[in-house]
Amino acid sequence: MTAQPVATRIVLASRPSGKPVAANFRLERETVRDLAEGEVLLETLYLSLDPYMRGRMDDAKSYAKPVDVGGVMEGGTVARIARSRNAAFKAGDIVLSHSGWQSHAISDGADLRKLDPQTAPITTALGILGMPGFTAYAGLRNIGKPKEGETLVVAAASGAVGSAVGQMAKISGARVVGIAGGPEKCDYIRQALGFDVAIDHHASDFPAQIAAACPKGIDVYFENVGGHVWSAVFPLLNDFARIPVCGLIAHYNEGSSALSGHDQLPAVMRAILRKSLAIRGFIQREFADQRPDFYQQAGAWITEGRLKYKEDIVDGLENAPEAFLGLLEGRNFGKLIVRVAP
Ligand SMILES: NC(=O)c1ccc[n+]([C@@H]2O[C@H](COP(=O)([O-])OP(=O)(O)OC[C@H]3O[C@@H](n4cnc5c(N)ncnc54)[C@H](OP(=O)(O)O)[C@@H]3O)[C@@H](O)[C@H]2O)c1
Repeated sequence: MTAQPVATRIVLASRPSGKPVAANFRLERETVRDLAEGEVLLETLYLSLDPYMRGRMDDAKSYAKPVDVGGVMEGGTVARIARSRNAAFKAGDIVLSHSGWQSHAISDGADLRKLDPQTAPITTALGILGMPGFTAYAGLRNIGKPKEGETLVVAAASGAVGSAVGQMAKISGARVVGIAGGPEKCDYIRQALGFDVAIDHHASDFPAQIAAACPKGIDVYFENVGGHVWSAVFPLLNDFARIPVCGLIAHYNEGSSALSGHDQLPAVMRAILRKSLAIRGFIQREFADQRPDFYQQAGAWITEGRLKYKEDIVDGLENAPEAFLGLLEGRNFGKLIVRVAP
């Protein structure tokens, strides 16, 4: 009889007020219970760290339930089936799961998708061929709809979503202006990904640089950030511009105080009216029925070398909190993933 494994878990120790800190997380260990009939034991190989997790740390009304204090932090994972009492899975199968920040988890199999390690590296199921890649695809296909010769601007442009947005927009024939933090990320999106222009949002003359980079205005602004990036982009929007509002990472630590301060709302509403802007928020799962198209299309683009990706892999589950805090400050470079087990 094999000994029961001991699971390592990162739980939410307390809710952050503003910027999260390491003390908001706690590492715990617990012996995994026996499997019931129909269940599988998952051994986490990789954990995805994503900006939405900041929202789950707050007890605010949102599109998804918050993580309970004391509960395991939520997250997408790639896992190996360690033991199975479910006929659909056998030990050694690799699956996409949503088992959170823990080394082991038990599942009834309903939320698992089998991955074929021969078709693509398994980490891509958390990035370019997973939720972030699909977010880029769905936001562009349904809302942004970039056309040949149009100007598309995207921020957090070296990240998981932004890097895919820019490349997919290039495939559509648009001129792509990427905004990223720092020279290394800017060089990457220009040289490795083929964006037309890269602008560092930390530059003191950032608004002037973005205006100069968009002499014909902006037709599609894929919003990942908000804050000072939105303020610089907003006056440059053309009539009939489309703005998929995908994320507002610059505001995730602000809670309800995001509504205070200088009120831009009248100016924004006036522009929506006068310029016939289409500003449309979305959560990727709204377009879940388009996932098969996405897997097929994105897989082909990767094979053809038209869709590149970069992963930022951190070793050890115990390092997940620090890596996540870094994500909220732009310290990641590419899709942030934690390697939990070899
Ligand atoms: N709607 C949906 O269904 C959906 C799904 C997935 C993701 N999202 C959203 O998409 C956005 C990008 O997500 P991702 O997974 O691709 O993350 P990511 O780009 O890989 O990482 C986050 C990046 O955001 C930038 N950033 C952080 N704080 C910032 C600030 N105050 N001002 C400007 N930039 C800042 C940093 O890049 P720089 O160093 O380049 O500034 C950082 O590296 C997030 O807002 C996320 O919430 C939405």
